Amino acid sequence: MVAQARAAGAAGIFHTRHAAQTVSLAHRPCRLEERAVQLNVNGKSVAIEVDPEMPLLWVLRDVLNLTGTKFGCGIAACGACTALVDGKAVRSCVVPVGSIDGKAVRTIEDLGDPGLHALQQAWIDKQVPQCGYCQSGMLMAAAALLAAHPSPSDAQIDAAVSNICRCGTYQRVRAAIRSLARVVREGL
Ligand code: FES
Ligand code: FES
Repeated sequence: MVAQARAAGAAGIFHTRHAAQTVSLAHRPCRLEERAVQLNVNGKSVAIEVDPEMPLLWVLRDVLNLTGTKFGCGIAACGACTALVDGKAVRSCVVPVGSIDGKAVRTIEDLGDPGLHALQQAWIDKQVPQCGYCQSGMLMAAAALLAAHPSPSDAQIDAAVSNICRCGTYQRVRAAIRSLARVVREGL
């Protein structure tokens, strides 16, 4: 998939926010605001030609076709778009891709590769997801939290996973994260 995006980028082709607006840069004058941005996405190097102000979320979904990261609000309020940049959780809808040139991005597509991540198994065990729309963002926020704090306190969980869930899965999200924290704390 990333290879496809790279090939498309090499051909000067990318997709804008609207699927119908597939744009071939090879067939129109070069726009000054577009430039090459280099990323490492899920362990693979990617070079893309885009407006550096394009939000990372647009790049993930519309350029690289990594649609596991979701759009919710577009104003950094809901967390549906959470991805990791150099291991830190970011709300990718408000991160201009030019501002993270050269950095490593990790998305939900990589979390369970290979095999289920411990968080994903905990999500299944606690039956967390309802409609599922917010859950990739929840998982990525939780992954960043556990990487920094393998046995987080409730306060740390609340601070790090402030994502909005319209289905109200908050208690189960916290139960799943606490179950992993307990595994670490008690060496289970
Ligand atoms: S879509 Fe980015 S925080 Fe809501
Ligand atoms: S599971 Fe439906 S919005 Fe969170």
